[in-house]
Amino acid sequence: MSRTIFVTTALPYANGSFHIGHIMEYIQADIWVRAMRMAGHTVHFVGADDVHGAPIMLKAEAENITPQELVKRYASERPQYLNGFHIKFDHWHSTDTPENVTLSQDIYRALKATDLIETREIEQFFDPVKGMFLPDRYIKGECPRCHAKDQYGDSCESCGAVYTPTELIEPYSTLTNARPILKTSEHFFFRLSDPRCVEFLQQWTTGSNAQGRKHLQPEVLAKTREWLGTGDADSEANLADWDISRDEPYFGIPIPDAPGKYFYVWLDAPVGYLASLKAYCALQGIDYDALLDPNGNTEQYHFIGKDIVYFHALFWPAMLKFSGRKTPDGLHVHGFITVSGEKMSKSRGTGISPLRYLEIGMNAEWMRYYIAAKLNSHVEDIDFNPDDFIARVNSDLIGKYVNIASRAASFISRHFDGKLAYTGDVQALQNECQQVADNVREELESREYGKAVRRIMALADQINQAFDAAQPWVMAKGIATASDEQKAALQNVCSRALAGFKALSVMLTPVLPVLTERVAKELFGGPRSFLWADASVLPTHIDAFKHLMTRVEPKLLDDLFEPPADATPAIVPGGEPIADTIDIKDFGKVDLRIARIVQCEEVEGSTKLLKLTLDVGEGRHRQVFSGIKSSYAPADLAGKLTVLVANLAPRKMRFGVSEGMVLAASHADDKTDAGIYVLEPWPGAQPGMRIN
Ligand code: 2FM
Ligand code: ZN
Repeated sequence: MSRTIFVTTALPYANGSFHIGHIMEYIQADIWVRAMRMAGHTVHFVGADDVHGAPIMLKAEAENITPQELVKRYASERPQYLNGFHIKFDHWHSTDTPENVTLSQDIYRALKATDLIETREIEQFFDPVKGMFLPDRYIKGECPRCHAKDQYGDSCESCGAVYTPTELIEPYSTLTNARPILKTSEHFFFRLSDPRCVEFLQQWTTGSNAQGRKHLQPEVLAKTREWLGTGDADSEANLADWDISRDEPYFGIPIPDAPGKYFYVWLDAPVGYLASLKAYCALQGIDYDALLDPNGNTEQYHFIGKDIVYFHALFWPAMLKFSGRKTPDGLHVHGFITVSGEKMSKSRGTGISPLRYLEIGMNAEWMRYYIAAKLNSHVEDIDFNPDDFIARVNSDLIGKYVNIASRAASFISRHFDGKLAYTGDVQALQNECQQVADNVREELESREYGKAVRRIMALADQINQAFDAAQPWVMAKGIATASDEQKAALQNVCSRALAGFKALSVMLTPVLPVLTERVAKELFGGPRSFLWADASVLPTHIDAFKHLMTRVEPKLLDDLFEPPADATPAIVPGGEPIADTIDIKDFGKVDLRIARIVQCEEVEGSTKLLKLTLDVGEGRHRQVFSGIKSSYAPADLAGKLTVLVANLAPRKMRFGVSEGMVLAASHADDKTDAGIYVLEPWPGAQPGMRIN
């Protein structure tokens, strides 16, 4: 039975470039979408930029541009990432669009008509200089518990205390340094605590869809139960009403009939899923209302990260339900991606830049395969480990999978003019190929990608073993003069291996769409990419083997992790313009310290880096990798003093963690070969001294 499916990924904030966490989510969803399409289902897969909110408004203001201009800049970068990693959304939209305004306001009006919206006066910090209410993250002050200075409005990084901004001692606005004042204003609330909402959410979160699959993964359900209670008489729901309004100035969608009030960005963001689909439907001539009919058969799934479950498992289904719309058929929640065990930051991402990955010529399908091999249906973090990456790609994809075709096809081309022929029981071969493919299809639908990959590679092992056991290279000796029977035997061994290779290619199609399309068309001469049903169709002909995929050279991983040559700060006379003005507070964030270079060593396998062991007066040594090898020998530096950015977040590089950055001057692009100059203080400076 052919199904119709609506799939989304979380909408990225349009104030930053994609990082590897975004790419992982999109790859996960893209694999799923492709697998479903190969089964003949109709899938509408859409994304959009999430553009509203205070951070985007303020960032644009700081750059002296409109929020729309800021958003446009990031939106224009999206295609190179998406195309680069073969992530094929049907449509990419924005939350700042007429569709989203209309849908968000319609949903709000419906909720209001259902008596689920209420207004309340609330008291909040207001920046009198800036003339705006301050989100918690723009308020800092002294921790009321441990008295650490400069702590954020919601929690203390020093002692871990959690509080409200009004409890801070000596609060200040990070926007203007002004002391915020308390001011009341009217806010709009979505009354999630209403018994109708609680009851619905208890049902929805524990429910299943028409496919018999649970809406939520067990660990996600467990989380929602902490918020919702279990529905038993003795378990209390402690679902708070949701503040959905913000006062001007705000970059957002106006609340109807409420001058100066805007929807909080998290209200209109998920509505952006619908807006994107609606715009896509208009382009394609699809009936949007029929597609999302609450009583219809379309399935709706959202791929998201574990940090935004609250919004998607509670607010979003309730918004849809009580505005009379179709509710989601499932959330597909994933964990985070770490790099060599280091947690990534949401804004900075990890040590891997997806664009650099592509720019240095790494194959996007290696990454797709590696991520697939690591993912399962649970909300577990996955780790990108460079050595593991090299091993997986080289031993699985090249050593096991591609290897079958390169070995078997050469006998067929040389001795049988590309023709495949089988002897013995071919039905068993077909059945086995289809059986494995069916299992893989089911595992992909269940998002057990790692299991699917292991199953595929187990079949590849089996095919290689059967091929080796038959020793076709022995059979091929003197084959020109051999009997028909001997020829048929050799042809059969190679044909079976290639039938297996074709089936493996079918199963790998969602993960490796480009490579397998070439296999389908260039090797087997087919008219289109593979579908699941192709797994058991025995090939009858193969074209001369073409190069399919190169091995990963470890050098590439070095390049991926090494900072680009211009990562060292540069002052270029008359060349690079001076960066935007910062105030003293911004400068104060950079903790520059005198460091003694205790030891300086070469880094095996790196042409750019030196490894420095530094004493910064902390009673321990730090390790820092610095891209200065082209200008210094280790002996030049050992024993010298220099300047270190001491509070730079530790960075995982291929050769180890780098705990800071040594300052050096160079031209931005070193075409002039002017070299790199490490900073050295005047005599008398001591390790640990702060530079102001
Ligand atoms: O966490 C985020 O990056 C949000 N921009 C995700 C929004 S998902 C959806 F609701 F739009
Ligand atoms: Zn504290």
